[in-house]
Amino acid sequence: MSDIAHSPDQPAAADGEVSSARFWNAAQGGKDNYERDRQAVAAVEAMAPGITADARSARQFLRRTVRWAAAEAGVTQYLDLGAGLPLEPDIHQIVSHHQPDARVLYVDNDPVVLAHQGAYQDPPLSSYIDADMRDTDVIMSHVTETFDLAKPVMLTFSSVLGHFSDEEAHGIVGGLLEHLAPGSCLMLSHDIPTPAIIAACEIYSSAPGALPYQPRTIEQLLRFFDGMDIVEPGLVPLFEWHPDDSTEITEVMGYGAVGRKAACTAA
Ligand SMILES: C[S@@+](CC[C@H](N)C(=O)[O-])C[C@H]1O[C@@H](n2cnc3c(N)ncnc32)[C@H](O)[C@@H]1O
Repeated sequence: MSDIAHSPDQPAAADGEVSSARFWNAAQGGKDNYERDRQAVAAVEAMAPGITADARSARQFLRRTVRWAAAEAGVTQYLDLGAGLPLEPDIHQIVSHHQPDARVLYVDNDPVVLAHQGAYQDPPLSSYIDADMRDTDVIMSHVTETFDLAKPVMLTFSSVLGHFSDEEAHGIVGGLLEHLAPGSCLMLSHDIPTPAIIAACEIYSSAPGALPYQPRTIEQLLRFFDGMDIVEPGLVPLFEWHPDDSTEITEVMGYGAVGRKAACTAA
């Protein structure tokens, strides 16, 4: 079978299966994926043009939001849930420019992500936990060891929450946020149910091994920020959130926002 990964020491995936992490890495133009993942991306792009631009746009949004948090809001601690495969510049590389003593904790439960992220970390700046993010008590035990919980933390959910039911997603977000100090931030990016995204999710979800992904409406997304202050410009198409020179204008598929747990004390 010619299904060879770019990296020769990449662990084998179950035969014929795609994974969320590798699919998204392929869609973003990354190198840590298999031919089957690239074929799955091509099949989705053919039926739902714009999905690869949407994937790149989400990554650009992640980078802009953490840069904002480090440079403008003074946040030094970052918890990235469903981190996926490394794709430089990653969060620790961006925030350490502005906060040299920053701490970044990446979480995922995909064995391929563990193989890549485990060797990629730059302690004490960054570290990786192999855990299911639904186990918020387990995640918090690592967070308590790594972070100073008297200080704000930024939670990042980049293109991740669509993998969970409403009950699970709110349980994860609420189960982490409740332990965090005032000034902590919640960042999320999420696809909305446009016809192209609905088609893309159907095709992707039918691939062997795929984790189903459900888009959410703007009203549903706003509920994650209940009780928080949403940072300007609000919940918007990803490319409208503090765009910079590298921001691609894409079809409107993904929305994103940053909320703060209490009134902004910096910035
Ligand atoms: C679409 S990818 C997004 C990757 C990355 N956040 C990004 O924006 O490029 C979703 C990620 O969530 C991870 N994931 C899915 N379910 C998870 C769970 N229950 N616990 C931890 N990670 C999970 C997958 O392994 C995958 O890496």
